[in-house]
Amino acid sequence: MPVIHALRERRPTLVGSAVLLAGGYALYRLWRRLMASRGKEESKENVYETQRALSEYLQFHFGSLQDMSLYVTDPVVIQNFPQRCAEECAKHFTQQSGVPSRALDVGCAVGRASFELARVFQEVVGIDFSLSFVNACNQLKEKGQLPYCATTEGDLSTQHTAVVPTDIDRSRCLFRHGDACNLPTDLGSFGCVLAGNLICRLPDPFAFFHSLPGLVAPGGILVITSPYTWLEEFTPKSRWLGGYRDDSGKEVRGFDTMKRVFSPHFELVAEKNVPIVIRETARKHQWTVAHMTIWRRGTF
Ligand SMILES: C[S@@+](CC[C@H](N)C(=O)[O-])C[C@H]1O[C@@H](n2cnc3c(N)ncnc32)[C@H](O)[C@@H]1O
Repeated sequence: MPVIHALRERRPTLVGSAVLLAGGYALYRLWRRLMASRGKEESKENVYETQRALSEYLQFHFGSLQDMSLYVTDPVVIQNFPQRCAEECAKHFTQQSGVPSRALDVGCAVGRASFELARVFQEVVGIDFSLSFVNACNQLKEKGQLPYCATTEGDLSTQHTAVVPTDIDRSRCLFRHGDACNLPTDLGSFGCVLAGNLICRLPDPFAFFHSLPGLVAPGGILVITSPYTWLEEFTPKSRWLGGYRDDSGKEVRGFDTMKRVFSPHFELVAEKNVPIVIRETARKHQWTVAHMTIWRRGTF
């Protein structure tokens, strides 16, 4: 009896303790969930901000053919891809009044195509979402060179220097941080817009496409390269340009969607397959064949 009495007497204290315990446990679970989601966000870091991507792209854009691959020796396969893109832009751009001698390189990475475009265009704007890449572009613009390491295997690497060809007027280039899906409104119009392997890295390629008629001057050109590697990691499925079947079961390809979206403003001038080799280690490479499409903005 005295025990029951004592318990009765202490009832409010017991209830209070239970509430405190339950509250503490709920807080602990909330904290655990927060920590877990934070961990997930950290692991979702932008791959183009990593030191590894910076080194790989400096080598991809500025490495000599020999540095690029010790074991892949076919010069056609390991030709410099950004340089090739700039050459195609120069080939299809026609100087004419009303078409500005300005080029825009969207998703410029470490800037090789932008520098190469400066051989032809009076002004080149390079835009990228990676601060680390834009920073590298600005150092290359300022000093003309930038050191980097190329991985041999594991922790072993060799030292190299990315050098902008000395016959290029680097002062023609301007590099900016920006988002292709929400480009700055003060860019003006261009005689050439290049988007090299960008579209399947965007969260909303349609948003980028919708800005293009406003960016490419009538008579100007648009050069897009893409391996059409649609990945949910970069682009939600609802925004893929292709790589799925529509409601009637018909295959939808990225190129078909581009033709449909561009048709009111652009005509297709040419299409090509362009090989790309990005060295990861001395013996491991990413081998890609990008689809290059060249479009001219109509005067309509
Ligand atoms: C596959 S790389 C291609 C880079 C370069 N054009 C080339 O051909 O070597 C994709 C580039 O797009 C950039 N990028 C990704 N999302 C972007 C966005 N929303 N706006 C602008 N650039 C973006 C990345 O930082 C990276 O430099």
